Amino acid sequence: MAVGKEQVEAALAKVSAPGGKTLTDAGVLSDIVVTDGKVFFSITVDAAAVKLWEPVRKAAEDAVRAVPGVQSALVALTAERAAGAAAQRAPQQPAPGQQAQRPAHPADNTPTGVPGVDAVIAVASGKGGVGKSTTAVNLALGLRDLGMKVGILDADIYGPSLPKLLAIKEKPQTIGGTRLKPISRYGLTVMSIGFLIDEETPMIWRGPMVMSAITQMLREVEWGKLDVMVVDMPPGTGDAQLTMAQQVPLKGAVIVSTPQDLALIDARRGIAMFKRVNVPVLGLVENMSYFLCPNCGERSDIFGYGGAHREADRLGVPFLGEVPLHMTIREKSDSGLPVVATEPDGEHARIYRDIATKVRDQLTGGAAAGRTAPKIVIEA
Ligand SMILES: Nc1ncnc2c1ncn2[C@@H]1O[C@H](COP(=O)(O)OP(=O)(O)O)[C@@H](O)[C@H]1O
Ligand SMILES: [Mg+2]
Repeated sequence: MAVGKEQVEAALAKVSAPGGKTLTDAGVLSDIVVTDGKVFFSITVDAAAVKLWEPVRKAAEDAVRAVPGVQSALVALTAERAAGAAAQRAPQQPAPGQQAQRPAHPADNTPTGVPGVDAVIAVASGKGGVGKSTTAVNLALGLRDLGMKVGILDADIYGPSLPKLLAIKEKPQTIGGTRLKPISRYGLTVMSIGFLIDEETPMIWRGPMVMSAITQMLREVEWGKLDVMVVDMPPGTGDAQLTMAQQVPLKGAVIVSTPQDLALIDARRGIAMFKRVNVPVLGLVENMSYFLCPNCGERSDIFGYGGAHREADRLGVPFLGEVPLHMTIREKSDSGLPVVATEPDGEHARIYRDIATKVRDQLTGGAAAGRTAPKIVIEA
């Protein structure tokens, strides 16, 4: 019999919370999402009380796991600062010269890093469907080819696609009941929010809950030692993305855009968003830049030529490269056989590796990043 919200709530009513109330009466629970035996919700508490609540989070998770029919439970603790809470917090400000203590709330502007991970970079786009995930995967593989130890985190809550793009069917295992073991694929260490939710599940999660799921994927996954973690961000430049950009300890962001003007406007918004949260924009990738005929190999600049490059120059961000619109990229990508891994000697792989090299150089402060090599233009 399928487990429902009521059974989960009944179990939570037996968990006691600080202050003498039960967890269900304490007014701290988000919506409870139950799908196919998987349960998710968050507990939102004051930042100052996080330590006090951690055992409660754990007890809630255990209680839910014990409900017959529950396969997994993800309970996240979110420290949320209400709009009016800033004033109350003021007395906690450190005296001048004193080390500031990191508040544990998602709006914090300087998130702590992920243990063992040298650099976290975002792959983002102003809107969906521009090839952000395809770029993220192939960029990660390109970085791998440069000898780096690479992880990839699918944080696209609207449409997690790494399970498909990397043909991952298995679910991650837990280690010691709490930490998750990421999946290995093509030498990448992979974690996707898609492992935790079903693709068909409507995205009815509330903001804090999404944030806490992201926090868990960053901090409660055994990433091991990584040179770089590539994060496939949710598309768009709304509040959710902004908060996430603040929440994830980003070294930089790669913006993916298609050449159409509309997409470029979205890309501009994306760049502005990262600048606002002081995350350096590592550059712009123009995806589906030109049409490469799968039969004759002829290039057609069907969207006009050079728009994204000009835009990158205008905005003062590096132009990382242009990826053609090509059947092979689509077919390979959608069948879990990313081109960089499965056609490493091909032209597409070379393009992605060039992009990866520019990204790597920026992360390591290597060769001056920016312009691509001159290219041959074939008129359509
Ligand atoms: N350069 C490309 N050439 C051909 N198809 C592409 C290319 N990049 C992405 N696609 C295809 O476009 C669709 C959307 O790509 P995806 O990476 O899922 O985008 P997003 O993550 O931005 O939603 C997928 O079917 C993908 O295979
Ligand atoms: Mg995607």
